[in-house]
Amino acid sequence: MLLFAATSNSGKMREFALAAADLPDCEIAPLPGFRELPAVEESGTTFEENARIKAVHYSGFTGELVFAEDSGLVVDALDGAPGVYSARFAGGGASDAANNHLLLERLRGAEDRTAHFECVIALARQGNVLATFEGSMEGSILHEPRGTSGFGYDPLFFHAPCGRTTAELTAAEKFPISHRGQAFRALLRWLNRGDGARL
Ligand code: IMP
Repeated sequence: MLLFAATSNSGKMREFALAAADLPDCEIAPLPGFRELPAVEESGTTFEENARIKAVHYSGFTGELVFAEDSGLVVDALDGAPGVYSARFAGGGASDAANNHLLLERLRGAEDRTAHFECVIALARQGNVLATFEGSMEGSILHEPRGTSGFGYDPLFFHAPCGRTTAELTAAEKFPISHRGQAFRALLRWLNRGDGARL
């Protein structure tokens, strides 16, 4: 089965590609020509809305199955921010470093540093959403970055069961426990069950 991923985020694609390497019957590839396709505004107020918006839009450009995901960091002391604005927390086109810097600024003096990552994947074909899948990962925000792998907020996101930030985990260590990995495995289970068999 061929699944196209509608993402230009190389960090996400790296994680999906790694997961797909273990799947005998499933090929995952970036949606061909993704960067040249017209972009769609992520105007939703929830991860699910944005995942659906992207899946509907990008699956219109191919007859194959397409999945899109929306994810982000939810910080309790910031009332859920940056949430769906995680990629653009410090402004449109902001770098990971700028977003991380702003996060530390906003959390200066905060005692409660608990947070979680959330991910929703929407699977679609030719403009119709077939199903959505969710995952989340609990952690807390450190006072300074640690580790160099991963992307986004990984250097600040401490996952207590591992005793490391997600930037100190390899992609192979992160995907089995991450929000994205959970949502992706739910997608695979759905495809392997009766639901996906008729696709
Ligand atoms: P999206 O491309 O609109 O879904 O933006 C997702 C943003 O959330 C990313 O740019 C990161 O800033 C953040 N994010 C989502 N998942 C992760 C993760 O696994 N590690 C670190 N940051 C993440």
